Amino acid sequence: MKTTNDHRPVGAYIPNEDRYKSEFFKNAGKTGLQLPLVSLGLWHNFGEGDDLFQGRKILRKAFDLGITHFDLANNYGPPYGSAEENFGRLFKKDFANYRHELVIATKAGYDMWPGPYGNGGSRKYLFNSLDQSLQRMGLDYVDIFYHHRPDPTTPMEETVLALSDMVRQGKALYIGISNYYEVEQMTEMCQLMEKYNVPFVLNQLKYSMFERKPEQQVAWAEEAGYGIIAFSPLAQGVLTDKYLNGIPEDSRVAKSESYLKQDDTFLSRVEKVKALNEVAQDRGISLAQMALLWVLRQKSVCSVLAGASREEQLEENVKLMEQPALTADELDRIEKILAG
Ligand SMILES: NC(=O)c1ccc[n+]([C@@H]2O[C@H](COP(=O)([O-])OP(=O)(O)OC[C@H]3O[C@@H](n4cnc5c(N)ncnc54)[C@H](OP(=O)(O)O)[C@@H]3O)[C@@H](O)[C@H]2O)c1
Repeated sequence: MKTTNDHRPVGAYIPNEDRYKSEFFKNAGKTGLQLPLVSLGLWHNFGEGDDLFQGRKILRKAFDLGITHFDLANNYGPPYGSAEENFGRLFKKDFANYRHELVIATKAGYDMWPGPYGNGGSRKYLFNSLDQSLQRMGLDYVDIFYHHRPDPTTPMEETVLALSDMVRQGKALYIGISNYYEVEQMTEMCQLMEKYNVPFVLNQLKYSMFERKPEQQVAWAEEAGYGIIAFSPLAQGVLTDKYLNGIPEDSRVAKSESYLKQDDTFLSRVEKVKALNEVAQDRGISLAQMALLWVLRQKSVCSVLAGASREEQLEENVKLMEQPALTADELDRIEKILAG
């Protein structure tokens, strides 16, 4: 986090009074929890090497636009834990009075600390991790706590009971799971959630025009009545106009520590993006907006969980709510480009 000799003033934060538009919210599955169509993820841009001033502007802009849902995980940073710490600092400065207007999520499931209790789905790991997350963020509870990925070495029942007890203890309001892609896994998980009366709200899955793996899940979720939140809906920025004319210096792919690499997959996707951009232009919207609308066409998807490095990106992305659904002809053109 770059804070040295940074004397730029930041005034008191007064949120935009017109931040709520009912058409921007959708219930997560059968639950009463409404989420904004566009949620903000803090996986990138909130770690120790990032600009806290910029992070603060992004959070403020998000809330001003009606983005009430901020998504974190124990291991976001780098280093692990630093995104939660930085979020906690900014929350205290700007959002403490608005806690009841926010849906704050965190997760545990990937490696977090050394040894047998810092990874997976055991009761020991999940409880210790949630306690640490609450401490880092300075919160009494999170709105959604996710098991971040399936753990075949822990009985599902142990994981579900731990999640259930977190809710009973008031540390989490709702429970989510993430990266559960197999329908059989989900069926078992949902049955256990019902058995233990767990307020299960969402499965968080990577879903975009370039990531079609969850489509079976997405269809099943619609029938079963639970919600999906789609992460990386812009394929980390590739499904925007950003890379149409080369690699901008400040883009994610240009950063050495990024998970997005300039490899063959990236290059072949950028070729398709040029054709996809023409479909968006014919409709008069940006490619980012079209990519988000494409994910949101699925009834079970209640929100797209996008990242942002600049306020303008958020402004552009939320404008999708002004758009009618993509037409059959547009969907067909997109499908042909993706198949090519
Ligand atoms: N559950 C899981 O396992 C898991 C895994 C990964 C992520 N997630 C969650 O999903 C969130 C989003 O992931 P993501 O950041 O990969 O999502 P994404 O929305 O696919 O990519 C976000 C990036 O796209 C670019 N961007 C966004 N809007 C743009 C616009 N209008 N025009 C041009 N570029 C735009 C920005 O990149 P630049 O920085 O290049 O400007 C931004 O950082 C994460 O923060 C995290 O909360 C969950």
